Amino acid sequence: MKPILPEHLLDLAALLKERVGLHIRKDGHAALRIAVTARLDELPEIDDAASYLALLRSEPGGDEELRRLLPLVTVGKTSFFRDERQFRALEAILPGLVSRAKGGGRKLAIWSAGCATGEEPYSIAMTAAEAGAGPEDVEILATDLNPEAVVHAARGTYDPRRVREIPEPFLSRHFDRDGDRFHVRAGLRRLIAAIRPHNLVSSIFPRPADGGWDIIFCRNVIIYFDTPTTQGVLTQFHNALAPGGYLFLGYSESLFRLFEGFELTEVAGAFLYRRPETSGRLGAPAPLPAVPARPHLVPMPVQPPAVRHVTFAAPERAHTPVPLPPQAYPGTPAPAPPLAPQEYLDGAVALFADGRFGAARELLERQLEKGGEDLSVRLTLANLYGILRQPDRARESYVAALALEPLSAEAHLFYGIHLLSAGDAEEAALELSRALFLDPDLTLAHYYQGRCREAQRDVARARLSYRNALEAYRRRPAGKRQAFLGYYPDIPEDGSAFARAAEYALAAL
Ligand SMILES: C[S@@+](CC[C@H](N)C(=O)[O-])C[C@H]1O[C@@H](n2cnc3c(N)ncnc32)[C@H](O)[C@@H]1O
Repeated sequence: MKPILPEHLLDLAALLKERVGLHIRKDGHAALRIAVTARLDELPEIDDAASYLALLRSEPGGDEELRRLLPLVTVGKTSFFRDERQFRALEAILPGLVSRAKGGGRKLAIWSAGCATGEEPYSIAMTAAEAGAGPEDVEILATDLNPEAVVHAARGTYDPRRVREIPEPFLSRHFDRDGDRFHVRAGLRRLIAAIRPHNLVSSIFPRPADGGWDIIFCRNVIIYFDTPTTQGVLTQFHNALAPGGYLFLGYSESLFRLFEGFELTEVAGAFLYRRPETSGRLGAPAPLPAVPARPHLVPMPVQPPAVRHVTFAAPERAHTPVPLPPQAYPGTPAPAPPLAPQEYLDGAVALFADGRFGAARELLERQLEKGGEDLSVRLTLANLYGILRQPDRARESYVAALALEPLSAEAHLFYGIHLLSAGDAEEAALELSRALFLDPDLTLAHYYQGRCREAQRDVARARLSYRNALEAYRRRPAGKRQAFLGYYPDIPEDGSAFARAAEYALAAL
C-alpha cells in the first residue's frame, strides 16, 4: 500500500481548487484518498503520494493525469435520489416496464453504470420496492470504474449526512440504524443482482441474462469523456438496451449533435433518452481510446430537438406506503407536469429576441423558485443580470452555478468574462484558465484570456493567448459551432468573430 498522508490530501485539494475550481472540503478527503489510491494502483512507477503530486504538477504530463484523476475525485459527488425529477420519471415508467418484462418471462433489468458509492442503485432499488416490485420482478446491476467505490457501494453503509436525502419513511423501511451508521437492509439488497467494477471505456458491456437492459442509468459520467469516447459508449448503450428501453443521463448531459440513435422523451418533467422500438443494432463504434483523452463540452441545442411528451397513468401500488412528505418525494406524477427547464429557457429566448430582457429575467427567476436549481437556467440568468447591469446579482448567480456544477467549463468561462468586464482581470484570468483546462478548444476563452493578460500588462502572455484562440478556431471540426449550455444572445456562437478579434489584437500588440 503506497502511503497517502493528510498533508498530501491538503496539497491535492489546493491543486484541484487552483486548476479546476473544485472545492473539496475536509470531509471530502476520504473520497480524495479513494481516488488517489485508485490512480496509484494504475501507476506502478509512482511510489507514493508525494511523487504523484509531482506528476500532477509536471509539464506537460500533469494535465493529462489530472484529467484521469478528475472523474475519480468526483466519486464523492453523488447522493441518494439525486435529481428528484428523474426518480419520479422512474416511478412512472416502472409498472409498464415490469409487466412487459413479466410478459416476456423475464425480470426487469436495470444497470447503474458509474454507480459511485452506491447511492444511485439503492435509490433505484427503493423506488422499485416502493412501487411494489420485488427481487422476482427486478434485477439491478451496479458498476463503477473505481474499485474502492465499488467496495463502499457493496458495503451499503452510510453516515447520517449522506442519508439525509432519503425521505423518512423510506429510510426507516430500507435501512437499519446502528449508532450513527445506516445499513441497507437485506430486503433491499436482494433487488441488487451484483455490484462490481467495470470500465465503460472498454469493448465489453455487461448484458442481462435475457435480452437487453430495460433501463440504464449513466448519470454524470460521460461528461468527463471526449467526443469519440462518448459516442463509442453511447453506441454500446444503444445496442445493450432492449428496444423501447430508457437511458437516464445527468441533467446537463445533452446528446444533441453528439449522438442520434435515441429519441428524446419527457416523462413526469424529466428528459430521458429512449432506444426506438424499431431501431436495430448500430454499427461498431469507432475504436475506443484506452482512456478518456480530455473532457468536452456536451453541446446543448440551439434549437431543441423534438421531444415526445409521454403521459403515464399514476402507478398502481402493490401496497400502500406511508404518505410521503409532498416536497421531498411526491408519490405520483402530477397530471399536468410542470414546464421543464428547457421550456422556460425557450420562453426566455423568445423574450430575448423581442429585447424584453426584464421579462425574460422574471421568467427565469420564477423557474428557479418553483422548479429548483438548474444549471442552464442559472447560467442564462447570470448572463442576463450582466446585460441588465446588475453585476452583484450576476456574480451571485455564477457562484451558484459553480456550486451546482464545479466542473462546468461554461460556468468558469462566462464567470471569467463577467469578472473581466467588472474590472477584475486577476480573478477573471483564473476562471478562464479553469475553463480552458476543462475544454482547451474554447476559442473565446483563449481570446478573453488574451484580454485579461493585456489588462495585466503582460504582453507576451496576451500574444500567446490570442495565438491559442486562432489555433483553437483552426482545429475545430469542420462545420462545428460551439454551442453552450444556457443562452448568451450577446455572444456569437461560431467562434469566427473571436478568431478575427484575436487577429486584430495580435496585429495591434
Ligand atoms: C460524479 S460520479 C456520478 C455518480 C452517480 N452516477 C450520480 O450521478 O450520482 C461519476 C462516477 O463515474 C465513475 N467513472 C468515471 N469514469 C468511468 C468509466 N470509464 N467507467 C465506469 N465508471 C466511471 C467514477 O468512478 C464516479 O464514481
